[in-house]
Amino acid sequence: MEVRAEKPEDIEAIRKVNVAAFGREGEADLVDRLRGVASTFSFVAVESGQIVGHIFFSPVAIEGKCADNLLILGLAPVAVLPDYQQRGIGSLLIQHSLAECTQLGCQAVVVLGSPKYYLRFGFTPAREKGLRCEYPVPDEAFMVLELKSGALDDCVGTVKYRSEFNKLE
Ligand SMILES: CC(C)(COP(=O)(O)OP(=O)(O)OC[C@H]1O[C@@H](n2cnc3c(N)ncnc32)[C@H](O)[C@@H]1OP(=O)(O)O)[C@@H](O)C(=O)NCCC(=O)NCCS
Repeated sequence: MEVRAEKPEDIEAIRKVNVAAFGREGEADLVDRLRGVASTFSFVAVESGQIVGHIFFSPVAIEGKCADNLLILGLAPVAVLPDYQQRGIGSLLIQHSLAECTQLGCQAVVVLGSPKYYLRFGFTPAREKGLRCEYPVPDEAFMVLELKSGALDDCVGTVKYRSEFNKLE
């Protein structure tokens, strides 16, 4: 299996992966709204020429105190075709793309999701770093990973996703 950056010809397959994985159009629409926005990154997992997984990152802002020159990304969404789940594809996609994000100059990544899944990649509760989510979610569901150690030492406040997320229910 290969993980690589999205290409223009992948757009339709990426939609299909997100719709199949989430069972609705919302996440696929979100990706389409965010595509082309500065500092967004999109990667696909390819097996035997077929796109079986997709992951997307978009920049978040800290409302509070934080250095202006930090690039902090929100991981969302990540999706694997139902027939291909539970085979490690999601894990490979996440690990590989986090390494890519580091290369691309990102210092930290936040994610909203299941701690059971994301803690294995090194994410920790964001509240321990003084960061909270703008949405009313359980504390433990909002996590952060420093790609550069100590990057968030001087950051505290509310993490704001791009306005394109507001339409996602
Ligand atoms: C989440 C997802 C991307 C994981 O992909 P995957 O290829 O199945 O993941 P892996 O095979 O690498 O890992 C499987 C592990 O993830 C766990 N897992 C999968 N989805 C999970 C979820 N929503 N909550 C908690 N754990 C989950 C499985 O229980 C399994 O755990 P185990 O290793 O302890 O048995 C995939 O299940 C998916 O597309 N789900 C639907 C969309 C979604 O909910 N995306 C995440 C929110 S943005």
